Amino acid sequence: MIVCVCNRVSDRDIARHVRAGYGFDDIQLELGVATQCGRCESCARDVVAQCSASHPVAAIQLASSILESRAWNSSAHLAAA
Ligand code: FES
Repeated sequence: MIVCVCNRVSDRDIARHVRAGYGFDDIQLELGVATQCGRCESCARDVVAQCSASHPVAAIQLASSILESRAWNSSAHLAAA
C-alpha cells in the first residue's frame, strides 16, 4: 500500500527501514515521507509504531552498535590524546 503519494513511499518501504532500526525522523529524511503535503504523516507514524512494536530488537541492536562504535566512545578519544 502506498502511504505517501507525493514521494511514492509504501508501507513495505517504511517497515523495511524500521526493521533496520530507523525511527520516524530518520525515515522521513531517508525516504522523504511527509515532507511535501503532509497528509501521510499520521498514517506513516502509525506504520512506524506498528512495526516498532513487532520488531523492537532491531532498534536495540542499532543503538548498541552506535554506542560501541569508536566515533561515540569519548573515553577512547580522551585516552588517545
Ligand atoms: S502524501 Fe506524503 S507528503 Fe504528500
